[in-house]
Amino acid sequence: MIIAKTLAEFESARAAVGSGKKVGFVPTMGALHEGHLSLIRRSVQECDVTVISIFVNPTQFNNQNDFNTYPRTVDNDCTLVEPVGVDIVFAPRVVDIYPNAAKGDGAPLDTRVLDLGGLDQYGEGPRRPGHFNGMAQVVTRLFDIVKPTHAFFGEKDFQQLAIIEYFTRNLQYPIEIVRCPIARGEDGLALSSRNELLTPEQRAAAPHIYKCISKGVDMVGKVSVAEAVAAITQEINSNPLLETEYVEIIDGSTLEPITEWDQAEKIQLSCAVFAHPVRLIDNLKLK
Ligand code: PAJ
Repeated sequence: MIIAKTLAEFESARAAVGSGKKVGFVPTMGALHEGHLSLIRRSVQECDVTVISIFVNPTQFNNQNDFNTYPRTVDNDCTLVEPVGVDIVFAPRVVDIYPNAAKGDGAPLDTRVLDLGGLDQYGEGPRRPGHFNGMAQVVTRLFDIVKPTHAFFGEKDFQQLAIIEYFTRNLQYPIEIVRCPIARGEDGLALSSRNELLTPEQRAAAPHIYKCISKGVDMVGKVSVAEAVAAITQEINSNPLLETEYVEIIDGSTLEPITEWDQAEKIQLSCAVFAHPVRLIDNLKLK
């Protein structure tokens, strides 16, 4: 396994792969867990070569404290992925991804505003201004550098995945986006690097989120959409360590909140919940 810590190191490793191969790519921000590994295993299975990136992307954090406290464990991550069959780990510096950083004059790292097809209007979009544009900046930059044939993303970040599918098509990247299901702990909690930041008490409370949203499945068509949102919100908040930021029932394709169950073919429930100061997201297919 090659560990490339600069753009130049990565480019020589990528050139050695040559052309005509299925190159699978799993972008990550590190602090890897079983959720990331499920994407990596899938790439190793389906592709000739697997590249992962580990980069805590500054442009997608709308909260400086979240960026500063984000767990960084690159050495441990490399030890974890080597036996899974990863060929190249790309763990670049900020200047490798954003050459503007070299100027050191505090200029914006990336000024591109990407077309996200309006999919950032709902859910996480308004609550994390700039987040999805920053995410799209780094993912397009990584696509340009890594030049994969396949890229693997988790449904844990449902809205991110929809936006990536949109700009991949829109910008005509010749890359197949592979959707991977959410990996959960035995207690139902969606695996996340942010779970590491929870106190033991919060960690014990967090599976309550999945228990509550799972009840949404049986509510479809039985109570109104608004009643379902209210009931699930109230039940999550009944745990004193949890506080919902939002619970939304949305059209799984446009991501727009719905008001009637027959309004959309695919229906998804998504939520963001604080175990202060940690913010957890989860989602579930209702229809
Ligand atoms: P990160 O949060 O590290 O996640 C990397 C990939 O792992 C994403 O596709 C995410 O959806 C997936 N993932 C995380 N937890 C998962 C789980 N429990 N089950 C299934 N998949 C899971 O998402 C990002 O990084 C960044 O935004 C990135 C795309 C790397 C751009 O910076």
